[in-house]
Amino acid sequence: MMADSNLIIRNVKVVTPKGDSARRGSTMSELSVTEDASIVITDGVITYVGPSDDIRIEADVDYNILDGEGNVALPGFVDSHTHLIFGGFRPDEFEWRLKGDSYMSIMERGGGIQSTVNATRGESLEALVEKARWFIDRMVDMGVTTVEAKSGYGLDTESEMKMLDAIDTLARDEETPLSVVATFLGAHAVPKEYKGRTSEYIDLMIREMLPAAKGKAKFCDIFTEKNVFEIEDSRRFLTAARDAGFKLKLHADEIVTLGGAELAAEMDAVSADHLLHVSDEGVRRMAEKGTVATLLPLTAFALKEPFAPARKFIDAGAAVALATDLNPGSCFSGSIPLTIALACIYMNMSIEETITALTINGAAALDMAGETGSLEIGKRGDVVILEFDNFRMLPYYVGMNCVRNTVSRGRLVK
Ligand code: NIG
Ligand code: FE
Repeated sequence: MMADSNLIIRNVKVVTPKGDSARRGSTMSELSVTEDASIVITDGVITYVGPSDDIRIEADVDYNILDGEGNVALPGFVDSHTHLIFGGFRPDEFEWRLKGDSYMSIMERGGGIQSTVNATRGESLEALVEKARWFIDRMVDMGVTTVEAKSGYGLDTESEMKMLDAIDTLARDEETPLSVVATFLGAHAVPKEYKGRTSEYIDLMIREMLPAAKGKAKFCDIFTEKNVFEIEDSRRFLTAARDAGFKLKLHADEIVTLGGAELAAEMDAVSADHLLHVSDEGVRRMAEKGTVATLLPLTAFALKEPFAPARKFIDAGAAVALATDLNPGSCFSGSIPLTIALACIYMNMSIEETITALTINGAAALDMAGETGSLEIGKRGDVVILEFDNFRMLPYYVGMNCVRNTVSRGRLVK
């Protein structure tokens, strides 16, 4: 983890959601705006944010100075769902899908996730880390200051731990320009060695992988899907993961309506993700429980599937987060600008809701809303400065990167 820094950002318009928890329903559109503002970051933590006239700095601290030239300052973006670590690429499958093949039929033929598993098993830890750094540099360029990264392309104990160790290497390295959070996704698919023996693979995960992942990953995730891990399998695995002390996430109702959202609420998962085919009952239960709905519009776009019903979630009083789902298969993109554009244009989210979904609610999806996701005293000094003095430029300038500076824990990383 990189060294924290002291920085004064002056001459910005601060635009931020507020609070230490997910913003739900109509409160997602509440952003606080402060003109002629400054932000003081001391030892990586925000110690002042507000009008420049009232600025308070710590005596005896040497601050770097950044002039925002009147532009908008937002909280750093939180990409709370990525598959950042993987071997190989799958452009051939992308072409097959463009010609009409389906994601699940490719997977059932032994391609899809299993093809990346074969490539990842053959990669060294160092090579996985180096590859991830290339993507991380691009994320920082688009204003991401916190990223979640999943395992899930090893599917045996050794390779899953290699992936978690790669994530851990990035998380601890001072040179990594953002914060990294690890999720164990051994339940991404049933590996070919266990074909037809799903229950035995779940036994293996519970017996070997969960204890080995303890201390390396904060979350456990599962691909709850027809013909992958059905509801009963998922409940059994998630119960064991919860008992072992992990916080829970689910890939839920992505391809068919299966009841993944309902299961996420039942299991007190922190988030359920994808949700393209969520039932109305699933929306209602997640809203009731406060399970964050992490929506991934780039995946729907790349799979040519209908977008997740963001409005239903928000209107039901749920908390919506947005993330990229960067992965080599269903969604080979980590584009924050395109995520913003799709959310506003196709999911009918307002730009205020979209900003909340990419900041405080993304942080809440990682159970970190007390640490980052808003520009408030006591939060980490994670800040994005735009090229413009108007945050409404973000979706209007479709798919283009409007980020001028990225600040991570008080350090200027772009
Ligand atoms: O989030 N759906 C499952 N997992 C990923 C895709 C993984 C892959 O195709 O490699 C997703 O879409
Ligand atoms: Fe995913």
